Amino acid sequence: KRVVVFISGGGSNMLALVKAAGEPDFPADIVAVISDKADAGGLAKAAALGIATFSFVRKDYASKDAHEAAILSTLESLSPDIICLAGYMRLLSATFINAYEGRIINIHPSLLPLFPGLHTHQRAIDAGMTQAGCTVHFVTEGMDEGPVILQTAVPVLPGDTVDDLAARVLVEEHKAYPKALRLVAEGKVRMNGGRTLRDEGGL
Ligand code: GRF
Repeated sequence: KRVVVFISGGGSNMLALVKAAGEPDFPADIVAVISDKADAGGLAKAAALGIATFSFVRKDYASKDAHEAAILSTLESLSPDIICLAGYMRLLSATFINAYEGRIINIHPSLLPLFPGLHTHQRAIDAGMTQAGCTVHFVTEGMDEGPVILQTAVPVLPGDTVDDLAARVLVEEHKAYPKALRLVAEGKVRMNGGRTLRDEGGL
């Protein structure tokens, strides 16, 4: 399966996917990395690994539609089977999502449906949560609300700072995302009618 990864920043999740996809038995190849930031740190890291990179800076386009049209046109030439959003800080339009329905996945640093949106670790600490974690989910029109593919929980420890918790979750993100991509690429987990369908053992 051909995979394109979207990033906006350092791309640590993208790197975890690239590393996993380098394993001979992995059912997907990362064919390109796309960013909405020309200076995203992950672009240089991907390029250094010989992966095609593309950046589409929003202010270079007259509208969100034009911005997405440019990305969609490049995607057509890349013909991805799956799109992985990995620290991509921009919402995709319904048009974009429908063009790749059931084939866009995202990683979010909370146990959705708890704490969609930003500052998830601060909110978990403020709420006195004793658990936090990450969720890989299918992308649908709403932000961080698509059907879940895989989740990992971590403890929130007394005295945790945001950085402590973020670091603990990030370690799990780097394990969960490749596992989730494998399941989707193998067809063991798919989205159907807005719900997750799992083959036996597709946990
Ligand atoms: C991660 O916490 C990820 O869950 C969120 O953005 C953060 C940075 O991701 N989406 P990365 O290091 O750019 O992959």
